[in-house]
Amino acid sequence: MTQQSASRPRRRGPRAALATIAVVALAAGTAMLYATSASAQSATLGAAAAQSGRYFGAAIAANKLGDSTYVNILNREFNSVTAENEMKINATEPQQNRFDFSSGDRIVNHGISRGMAVRGHTLAWHSQQPAWMEQMEGTALRNAMLNHVTQVATYYRGKIHSWDVVNEAFDDGNAGARRNSNLQRTGNDWIEAAFRAARAADPGAKLCYNDYNIDNWSWAKTQAAYNLVRDFKQRGVPIDCIGLQSHFNAQSPYPSNYRTTLSSFAALGVDVQITELDIEGSGTAQANSYRGVVNDCLAVARCTGITVWGIRDSDSWRSYGTPLLFDNNGNKKPAYDATLAALNSGTPVPTTAPPTTVPPTTAPPTTAPPTTAPPPTTPPPGGSCSATVSLNQWQGGFVATVRVTAGSSTNSWAVTMTIPSGAAVTNTWNAQASGSTGSVRFANVSYNGRIAAGQSTEFGFQGTGSGSGMTPSCSSS
Ligand code: G3I
Repeated sequence: MTQQSASRPRRRGPRAALATIAVVALAAGTAMLYATSASAQSATLGAAAAQSGRYFGAAIAANKLGDSTYVNILNREFNSVTAENEMKINATEPQQNRFDFSSGDRIVNHGISRGMAVRGHTLAWHSQQPAWMEQMEGTALRNAMLNHVTQVATYYRGKIHSWDVVNEAFDDGNAGARRNSNLQRTGNDWIEAAFRAARAADPGAKLCYNDYNIDNWSWAKTQAAYNLVRDFKQRGVPIDCIGLQSHFNAQSPYPSNYRTTLSSFAALGVDVQITELDIEGSGTAQANSYRGVVNDCLAVARCTGITVWGIRDSDSWRSYGTPLLFDNNGNKKPAYDATLAALNSGTPVPTTAPPTTVPPTTAPPTTAPPTTAPPPTTPPPGGSCSATVSLNQWQGGFVATVRVTAGSSTNSWAVTMTIPSGAAVTNTWNAQASGSTGSVRFANVSYNGRIAAGQSTEFGFQGTGSGSGMTPSCSSS
């Protein structure tokens, strides 16, 4: 593709040993840990994606938050946002060491206040640098870049689901070589230095490497990104996710081996996020490509979310290619219908590996089973649910990911947990928290209250202190 240059759940702690604790709490006597049945039909993209624990997001612009058509679609359909431009280097550090978070804050606050997961885009990039940085080289630039990563990630600590730490570091035409940029010229280790700084600044955010033209498994650039992730995992450089921008058009079409790419990255032990999806075209052909992308993501358990790069075609950086899910007037396109239907056909992913306990070797008892019938159980009124919590923590903080599974279908749910003494909730996504210490109640948000029997949704929160020992209790109606 000819791009001109060319978006919290869990994370890994920097050096501290990580604790992953799965706690199962059953409400109303009903457990459904591994949901396998077909999904219910949710009416919006975010709700449909949430059924399988995924997010569906959009890149948004702060200066469009006064456009009611735009905001209505955003709030109705999406459960994640990325700032299209407002958190880039030139926006957040227009003059060296003078930071401006005003536009970024508008995006972040809009998302967080509605329980959306916020993707941070982007901390280190050859493009969209402020003039002072464009002119820099060498040690001064390396230090300035690390300072930028540290300051911005620290400012937003506790609010970002995933950061695109480094963006577009590989060359397009040069057999997988690094892109020649002022950042690259500071030394080949600039990418891992940026990741280490980001981890230290916000240990709760997932850290992604993000790029375009890494969708086709047979392309050299894809292999280069794969080798980078593999090398980082092998050497313990902190990385949690790969971002595939997935800007598709005639020059860079949706590839038939896309699922292979997703599953290959996932097999390295990172999440896969589709971060900037748009597909030029119209009608059935465009709808088919969107359906394919969604189905490929749903087929890979660690493909955890999809973000489209804009809302209406007229909002797109490639508006001439009508690449998005809503037309200029905000009407749903065939691509929208195909995307929603595909998300609704998704099967929830299991929250934990199946138990590996060895069956007992002792002979079964020979006594006859009792002949009396078991006492009748009364189904709970208005739905039942269970909740599990996975905890990743480090010195001084933690991220909890909570999976809510419906025993019988729910219209709304709430999970209550006692936050350990000395700990406090600082940020919540995909749920609304009441309180931050002691007994905290997490209620569904508008798009994920309805869960069909056997289906699941996820929410998360970040906290300070230790999160060990939390036991979720789920109630529903
Ligand atoms: O807001 C100013 C406006 O005041 C001014 O009059 C006008 C004049 O050109 O520029 C406007 O800013 C533009 C901005 O978009 C907002 O529209 C910038 O010039 C323009 O460069 C900028 O383009 C953005 C581009 O990144 C910059 O590289 C696109 O909106 C944005 O969609 C695009 O996003 C990138 C991702 O960050 C990385 N992956 C590829 C993707 C698409 O290129």
